Amino acid sequence: MRGGGVGKRNPAVLAEGQPEPFLEDPGDPPDWRQEFGRGAPIEVDIGFGKGEYLLALCAGHPETDYVGIDYDRGRVWKLRDKIVRGNLRNVRLACGDAALLLPRMFVPGGVRSFTVNFPDPWPKRRHHKRRFITRKFGELLASRLEPGGTLTVATDHRPYADVIIGELSAVKGLEPDFGQPGFATALPGRIETLYERKYREMGRTNHYMRYHAAAGCGRADDAK
Ligand SMILES: C[S@@+](CC[C@H](N)C(=O)[O-])C[C@H]1O[C@@H](n2cnc3c(N)ncnc32)[C@H](O)[C@@H]1O
Repeated sequence: MRGGGVGKRNPAVLAEGQPEPFLEDPGDPPDWRQEFGRGAPIEVDIGFGKGEYLLALCAGHPETDYVGIDYDRGRVWKLRDKIVRGNLRNVRLACGDAALLLPRMFVPGGVRSFTVNFPDPWPKRRHHKRRFITRKFGELLASRLEPGGTLTVATDHRPYADVIIGELSAVKGLEPDFGQPGFATALPGRIETLYERKYREMGRTNHYMRYHAAAGCGRADDAK
């Protein structure tokens, strides 16, 4: 598990009856119905960074429960404190490598949507192996999506967009929403992330890949 230490800190104090948003050890898998006190659909933001996208989503959609995963511990703690101060109760955070955490955290078919916003493109060839959107990762996400659930990936980096499209198009059970070249350059109504706004203001093109889970996704035998 990666992520920097947080050192001395002064965490925001939970209000009376407020749930702790940071799941230090997210169970095997957690009982989300019990954790959120209801059976709302669950949406997952992978690599939330500073978390403004996740915060805006959970404030704007109290009917949905959200889970954010990031392997940067400092970012997790910072967002945790914002969630506590905002008294948002429909979001939980976990810290660690999404590829390792996801199989532990969600049962097959247990997630309505995954979003990966602006994953690090690692443009240098010798760093390509650090990219985490691979066919294997896509298979893992597909196994956790409910039928009809969505996976959205955004990047400003065209070569990485092409790689992502190649990897995800090989995943059985994921059906692309966009035809050739496999991405849209805008998703109307979408909340902008920090990176997204920065890149748009710089005049760069953002690429959005979106997939739907086919019927039959998220079966118990996809549990590996
Ligand atoms: C370039 S930032 C994008 C942040 C945010 N999604 C946005 O669009 O503004 C990538 C984020 O992904 C996180 N990350 C990278 N690899 C990860 C992994 N394997 N598991 C979880 N988080 C990861 C990083 O810590 C970082 O916060």
